[in-house]
Amino acid sequence: MTSITSPSILIVDFGSQYSQIITRSLREMGYRSALLSPAKAQQWLEDYTPKAIILSGGNKSVNNQNAPQIPQGVFDAGVPILGICYGMQALAKHFGGQVSNQSPGFGTEQISLVSLSPLFDGLSDTQDVWASHGDTVSKLPKGWKKIATDKTGALAAMQGPEEKFFGVQFHPEVTQSTKGQQILENFLFICDCKQDWDAFNMKTTLIQQIAEQVGPHEKVGLGASGGVDSTVLAALCREALGPDRVFGICLDANNLRHGERDLISKHLHAAGISLQFVDISQEVLTVLAGITDPEDKRKAFQPVYKKALVDAMQSLGDGFIVAQGTLATDLIESGKTGGEVIKTHHNTGLDFGDTQQIEPLSGLFKYEVRELARSLNLPDSVTNRSPFPGPGLLIRILGEVTCDKLNLLREVDRVAMPILEKTGENVAQFVVGLGPQTVGIKGDARDYTHAALIRGVITTDFMTAKGVYFEQTIVEELKSALTQIPGINRVWIDPTDKPSATTEWQ
Ligand code: XMP
Repeated sequence: MTSITSPSILIVDFGSQYSQIITRSLREMGYRSALLSPAKAQQWLEDYTPKAIILSGGNKSVNNQNAPQIPQGVFDAGVPILGICYGMQALAKHFGGQVSNQSPGFGTEQISLVSLSPLFDGLSDTQDVWASHGDTVSKLPKGWKKIATDKTGALAAMQGPEEKFFGVQFHPEVTQSTKGQQILENFLFICDCKQDWDAFNMKTTLIQQIAEQVGPHEKVGLGASGGVDSTVLAALCREALGPDRVFGICLDANNLRHGERDLISKHLHAAGISLQFVDISQEVLTVLAGITDPEDKRKAFQPVYKKALVDAMQSLGDGFIVAQGTLATDLIESGKTGGEVIKTHHNTGLDFGDTQQIEPLSGLFKYEVRELARSLNLPDSVTNRSPFPGPGLLIRILGEVTCDKLNLLREVDRVAMPILEKTGENVAQFVVGLGPQTVGIKGDARDYTHAALIRGVITTDFMTAKGVYFEQTIVEELKSALTQIPGINRVWIDPTDKPSATTEWQ
């Protein structure tokens, strides 16, 4: 294996939905980090000594019998430790403090500094931070001091002896904590960490890794959607293996948008690999017949997708490896990093039997993949492409999926997209879906047809998102254009945030 210098920051993952966001924030600040479960962290610490250790949040209570413990290696490493939320509570408990569930907090909170600490260097006396906790530290360990409290007086930040151990009850890694990055930066300064990440390094490392993971006589088949993830993966594989050993396969389940086949061909051509379309629409429609529950739909779609992909790969001949453009967020939301399953992704956890599978992008977030696309000189239409989910239009139809509904939704999407794109650049994704039938009036007659569902979200990583309120002119244009489509009599616009909603309609 290529010897990649080990990151100087270890993050012990106690299972919080925000754990991956810590790594992303650190990369944004120019630092690489390793995010590992407590057991893996213990193993890693046997070989490496980081300069800084961060203990993530988690969804358990440290007072539960089976609560995850801080591995001993963390203390043996002798380096500064920052505990975040659960991590802070676990630190407090380890050093003899107490944790109770008396002062839960959720959402934006204001905290006040009550004593000086290098962790809050350069920051004002009050801060807006993002809280998400049931428990708090109710008694400090001996020799520790309070650094900050929330409005109720509950402990919001603490510091141990010799300015070596720190804990914050809030999440500095999320953007809602307005000075969160500065707090992390202060911690890394205390630890003497040096910046060591950029997109160019990442590209070189990934190319080396792929070249080493794929044997000299093996070929790589990858599921190509034309989106930024699979196109970047295609370009990286091409750089690592050359054009003759990389094959793009696009499964078409009648779930693509208007003009999408041409766009996918253009993108894969730019990535320098060959592309084959495989029509799986009949198989998919057959297995989805009668299914209305979103998770059941995903579970029914997954084996068909997998079989078609494996069959298409096998048609390439012996010795192939499957490359998947799975990102860190796909793994989190599919529960692969130990958290709650929010939805089954079509392309995570696929069992290809004896066939080797590589997921080179699985530690990265969308914004990082876009940076990679730029450094691979892919066209802007790849770099700036708004994400489109692998199951495509299939997860944008509420209720049973039929061929007629797919065709109708494709038309709604074709008409709506150019109007939505007038909204401006900061919308990360527009989601056009097909709702249930509702009663309307068209001409002078009762019309019992569908609602068009429209949504836009602003987000950097899709873990959380802000729903968009469209300008009146856009809403008027959508209403007038979409209700002219036969089969549509209403337009529903959904500005709900994630959470409580998700981005897709499902
Ligand atoms: P949600 O709906 O979970 O979506 O907020 C977050 C992002 O993920 C995309 N998405 C998927 N992408 N397979 C994919 O490749 C899937 O099954 C899937 N489900 C959601 C979604 O479009 C958004 O960008």
